Amino acid sequence: MKRVAILISGGGSNMIRLLQDMTGDHPARPVLVASNDPQAGGLARAADMGVPTAAIDHRAFPRDRAAFEQALLEPILQAEPDIICLAGFMRILTPGFVQRFQGRMLNIHPSLLPKYPGLDTHARAIAAGDTQAGCTVHLVTPELDAGPALGQARVPVLPGDDAATLAARVLVQEHRLYPAVLRRFASGDRTPLVL
Ligand code: GAR
Repeated sequence: MKRVAILISGGGSNMIRLLQDMTGDHPARPVLVASNDPQAGGLARAADMGVPTAAIDHRAFPRDRAAFEQALLEPILQAEPDIICLAGFMRILTPGFVQRFQGRMLNIHPSLLPKYPGLDTHARAIAAGDTQAGCTVHLVTPELDAGPALGQARVPVLPGDDAATLAARVLVQEHRLYPAVLRRFASGDRTPLVL
């Protein structure tokens, strides 16, 4: 059984889907949900689902990313995860932190990478006149949103879409893609999944 830690910053809808999937014959189990925001709604949801939680407020470490990460590392190392899933975790991680978990840290990003790394992905896709958008699960490497893809799902961009309507359409696919990729990854299958 692989041990999975999930890092979140917000509501954690992707996290909930991952937790819901990690039962029965799934090759992994959740061991920790951690957030950089003590108010993140997902923390209470995780606790309700019986998963240990930790909150490390990044605002307690102004301008000191390394000290924040050192504090974040503590509950993570205690939980001894095999795999770390970033699920709406909105802090950029330093190369040192990423390298510690290289090859076993996953992220979900709301665009068809390599298009639109970073923020405001949906507005950028609409502004560019794209007819398709989507989401990518990838391995995390030191370069932001640039690691090898483990899976992608596509949606159409429809006439009249704004960032919110497109984000909602993409999120439905994120909730399908991330659990499917984690299941494969935890069982040792790294071939990219296309949904
Ligand atoms: C998701 O759309 C995820 O792809 C995105 O944040 C949202 C989190 O939603 N992640 C990023 O933008 C990472 N740069 P959730 O908290 O409901 O899972």
